[in-house]
Amino acid sequence: MLNSVCVGCILLTVMEFHIKHTWDSLPVDHEPDGLLMQVTAPFFNHPPAPAGPPGEPFPGLWDYEVVESFFLNNNTEQYLEVEVCPHGQHLILLLNGKHNLPLLFKANIEDNKWKGEALLPWRYFPQGINKMNSYAIHGSGAGRTYEALYPVPREDLQEGQGPDFHQLEYFQDFTLQSIMGDDWVQPESDLWDLASK
Ligand SMILES: *[C@@H]1O[C@H](CO)[C@@H](O)[C@H](O)[C@H]1NC(C)=O
Repeated sequence: MLNSVCVGCILLTVMEFHIKHTWDSLPVDHEPDGLLMQVTAPFFNHPPAPAGPPGEPFPGLWDYEVVESFFLNNNTEQYLEVEVCPHGQHLILLLNGKHNLPLLFKANIEDNKWKGEALLPWRYFPQGINKMNSYAIHGSGAGRTYEALYPVPREDLQEGQGPDFHQLEYFQDFTLQSIMGDDWVQPESDLWDLASK
């Protein structure tokens, strides 16, 4: 049985196959290609949409209305950062600085809510992910609001500290096996193999 993990406004599940048989009724037996990330979040429409086409990567998306998820291996400190915007733009960042990768991502705005669905290919994830965190960000200037799934505890705050999404020590436990099952082996990734050479 495949599981799903619900973290705040983000639901992570295995991609579902709509085609389950070949033309001659043999069952299709292949592994899912990635993790499905479904976002349901309030829509603030502030700041306004980035000036880039929906469906494309948008550099600097973190300055707009955005939901971000980080998937981390805390031993190697390698991580995948996924940013998605209600207006349909996205940004994928691998720790090694690779970016502008494509993503199957669709977003819909309905009144004061938006929903997005992204398919995160396995090859974007580093091996050995054991932590994650997510953020939802909107507004601008003094009114910019940074919501965190796993926030920095009050007692750890330093004077004058601002939001920093890369404080990896506050991430909490998460594995891909929690969704895919304990026996699942993550496929090798050309992206991360190249990155470590
Ligand atoms: C990784 O996380 C584990 C469990 O939370 C912790 O014990 C360990 O110190 C962390 N490792 C690093 C390198 O931060």
